[in-house]
Order: sequence, then structure tokens, then C-alpha cells
Amino acid sequence: MGFLPFFSLETWALLVMFISLFIMYGYWSYGVFEKLGIPCPKPIMYWGTVTKGHSVYYIKDYMSFKQFGKVWGMYELRTPMLAVMDVSMLKTILVKECFSLFPNRRNLRLNGDLYDIVSLSEDDNWRRIRNILTPAFTTGRIKEMFEIMKQHSRKLTDSLRPKAHNEEVINVKDFLGAYSLDAMASCAYSIDTDTIKDPSHPFINHAKKLLRISIPLFLIQGFFPFLLPLLEISGFSLFPKSCVAYFKSVLEKVRAERRGGSHQMDFLQLMMNSQQEKQNKGLSDHEIMSQAIIFVAAGFDTSGTTLAFLAYNLAKNPEVMRRLQEEIDTTFPSKVKQESVFQYTDSLYTEYKYLCFIIRLYPPIARIERVAKATVEINGITVPKDMIVTVPVYALHRDPDLWPDPEEFKPDRFSKENKQSINPYAYLPFGIGPRNCIGMRFALVMVKLALVEVLQNYSFSICKETEIPLEMDPTGLLGPLRPIKLKLVARSIASANVDN
Ligand code: HEM
Repeated sequence: MGFLPFFSLETWALLVMFISLFIMYGYWSYGVFEKLGIPCPKPIMYWGTVTKGHSVYYIKDYMSFKQFGKVWGMYELRTPMLAVMDVSMLKTILVKECFSLFPNRRNLRLNGDLYDIVSLSEDDNWRRIRNILTPAFTTGRIKEMFEIMKQHSRKLTDSLRPKAHNEEVINVKDFLGAYSLDAMASCAYSIDTDTIKDPSHPFINHAKKLLRISIPLFLIQGFFPFLLPLLEISGFSLFPKSCVAYFKSVLEKVRAERRGGSHQMDFLQLMMNSQQEKQNKGLSDHEIMSQAIIFVAAGFDTSGTTLAFLAYNLAKNPEVMRRLQEEIDTTFPSKVKQESVFQYTDSLYTEYKYLCFIIRLYPPIARIERVAKATVEINGITVPKDMIVTVPVYALHRDPDLWPDPEEFKPDRFSKENKQSINPYAYLPFGIGPRNCIGMRFALVMVKLALVEVLQNYSFSICKETEIPLEMDPTGLLGPLRPIKLKLVARSIASANVDN
């Protein structure tokens, strides 16, 4: 094949296929939004950004917002999506018409054994599952779980001690992510994974991989949507099957051990109890397994990422960290008290405001989605039936109309007085409305607790290995491309932080 230089025949075939698809994709793309009179970036614009290494979807959202304003169209492969940052439209989509017109997220149906997780369930089925799960996240329940979380925050501070002592450079997410995972595993199924001590534990490896969907499969369904039913029947799954199988076997073991005995009220037990209480309306065994898996997957990486970004930004802003530590020392002269961690506004005011600042600039879930059930006109814009509406949260949180000087840490933005003037649809790190994050309050307590205990004992500091600014990961959830590396400095106050 001398006339086809450089590559093998297979590579050329693939190349030709992708170039044809790319051209066809550009060709197909123009219809929808042109007809609706909605601006839409040309696919070629995305191509340019990909080759320059800025293929991060949420940064593209920000660029599109700068170019087109608060409503624009876009294509994900061949799927049209309407991006909405207009706060009054968001109110209609996420709250007012949530049940009637926008109850569901996009569901590619290639979910394998996780076909009935709450986050992808639809309509009445979603409502039933969500209603059963909601009582697991009341303040009372979270307070019960607080003591379990505390055992893990103590393990976290203990594991950091030698690192601070030896002035080691650490990958903060290794520790803070492991804390989140261990706390989640204990609160969800009462199992002690202790991945802080054992970073190669299969639990953490599988949890990390669980939400990394298969890119080739994603591309195939995106370019050839008509193949979806065939792929579904053939049992293809975007979620790695080996990870799902691992969690299933862990859960089956836990459930088998429970038969007949009395147990701590973890998420699993609460779901199992729902089977007795609600008779036919309770969760099936399979649904329980799916929710138990998705809780850990949804909670661990988001909370770990939030903590890692907090650590990074505190290390870069030592003055804010010092103020925060002073406040922590005053509020908790001896140990962390449950009541104070629960009160977001009255105690730990700096922490509250800094946490808000971080999850505004780095929302771990950078896009929220809903699908239109019927064609509807909102504020003069027609949203056709089946259109995916995406809320570009990352761009929304940096909109200068809503957040003057968006990148600045202005503590007073979230002060009691100013908080009232923040439009509730301008700040969506956990979504909003009936389909918002079910684990929001649980996550906030888990994150606050770790932050307080770590800052009681240590200060974060940047070192020559710290990447400034961070390059973001072009794939998956929002996060840095390379690990965040910091050093820890032990604080003398640590000796006072002893549980009695
Ligand atoms: C900092 C940590 C977290 C962040 C930033 C976060 C963020 C989000 C966001 C933005 C959504 C989509 C909301 C919407 O569509 O309006 C969501 C949904 C969800 N989150 Fe979280 N989350 C976090 C922690 C957790 C935890 C700890 C759990 C479980 C214990 C959890 C379970 C869920 C579930 C099950 C859904 C789907 C809810 C439904 O469809 O009804 N999340 N989360």
C-alpha cells in the first residue's frame, strides 16, 4: 500500500470515516437552531478549541456565553442542546414546570445494571424513588451520621500528621477524596473501607472508575443514535461493568450479613426498611442496590473535589486561611461540636463564605440537564419537544451581571444582608427545585467537618510542585488535569484538639 503513506490501512479507514462524519456532522448541524432563531457556534469553532487543547466543555460554555449571551444552541456530537443561563427561564425549567414539562434528565439508556438509579429514573418512577429516599437525608438523620463522619475526619487528621512532620508534598485529593469515600461507605452501608490507610483498596479504585463512562461507546451512540436500541439490547453499558459488579458483590455480602439482626441506620438499612413500611410501593431489591451504588459514586468524587479545591485556594490565599483558622479556634476551642457544624450562617462565617466562593468558581457538576417533554415557549424562546436543556453552571457562576468581579473572593457577597439579594437561580452548585441534589446537606456537613478538623491541626501551603494556575481536566466532572500538590504545616493549636 505504498500510495497510502505514514499509516496502516486500518488507521486510514478510521481517519476517512471520522473526516466524513465530521463533515456530515457539520452539515447536519445547522437545521435546528437556525429555524428557532437561536445562535449556535459552528462545530468548526469547537474543533479549533480542541486542537488548542482547550476542549474542556465548561470552558467552551463560558466562551459561548461571552459570544452569544444567555441562551444559545450547541451540539454534542449530533445531539442538539439548548444552553440556558437566563435566570427567569431557569426558574420556569427547574422549578415552576419541573413536574409538568421538565422532570427528567437525558437518559442514553445504556446504563447496564444501573438502569434504575434515581438520577436517571423518569417521571412517576423517579418521583416514587425520590420520595422513598428523601427521609434518609433529613437533618435528624444527618446528625446521626455526623458521629460516623467524625471517626473518619479524625483518621484523616491522623494520617496527615507524618506528612506534615516530614514536610512531604502530598496529592491532597488522595487524602481528602479517601476521607469522603470512607465517610460515604460508612454512612451508606456501615462498612469500614479505610482507604485513607489503604489507598489501593479495591473500593476506591472501583469508585473512581464508576462514573468514567466509556468514551468509544459515547462516541458511537452520539454519531449513530439510530444504533441505540441495538446497543441497549446487546447489553452495552456506559458504566464499567466490572465496577458495578464489584459494588453489587459488596452490597450482597452486607445484606446477607444483616438478615435477621438489628443494625445501624445507614442509607442501606433505611432503604431496606422502606420495603416493609410501604409494602408494594417500597424499593425492589434491585432498586436498593442501584441507589446504594449511586450514592457513593455521586457523593465521593464531588465532595473530594470540593475539598481539594478548597485546600488549593486556601494555600494560595494564606490571609483568608488565617482568618478562617482564627474563627475555627474561637468557635471550637477543644473539639468540633455537632451543633456548630450544622449552623452554616451563625458559626464559622468565613468558612461558609469561602465554601460558597469555591463551589461557585469550581462547581463539581459544571452542567445540569433537563429534557423538554413537550414543545413549550419560555420568554419568547421555543423549546422543542425532546430538546435537551443544559444549564451551564460553570459559566452561570461567572456571569458578571450576576456576580460582579466574578473571580474575586468578596466575603460580603454571602453576608446575611447581601445573601437576600442573590438571585436563587444564579447559584446552582447543587441544582435547584424538586430534582436538585438529594445529598446536598449531607455533603455540606461532610465537607465542613473535614475542613474544620484539618485546619485546626494544619495549614496548607503551596510548594514548588504546586501547579499555578491549574490546568483543568478536559473529560468527566470538573477537576484539575494533574493532581493538586501541597505541603502541610502543623499548627501548635493541634494539641488542644483532643476528644474527651
Ligand atoms: C459537594 C458535593 C456534591 C455536589 C456539588 C453535588 C451536586 C449535584 C448536582 C448539581 C446535581 C444535579 C441537580 C439538578 O439536576 O438540579 C446532583 C444530583 C444528585 N446528587 Fe449530588 N452533589 C454532591 C454530593 C452528593 C452526595 C453526598 C450524594 C449522596 C449521598 C449525592 C447524590 C445525588 C443524587 C442521587 C442526585 C440525583 C437526584 C435526582 O435525580 O433526584 N450528591 N448533585
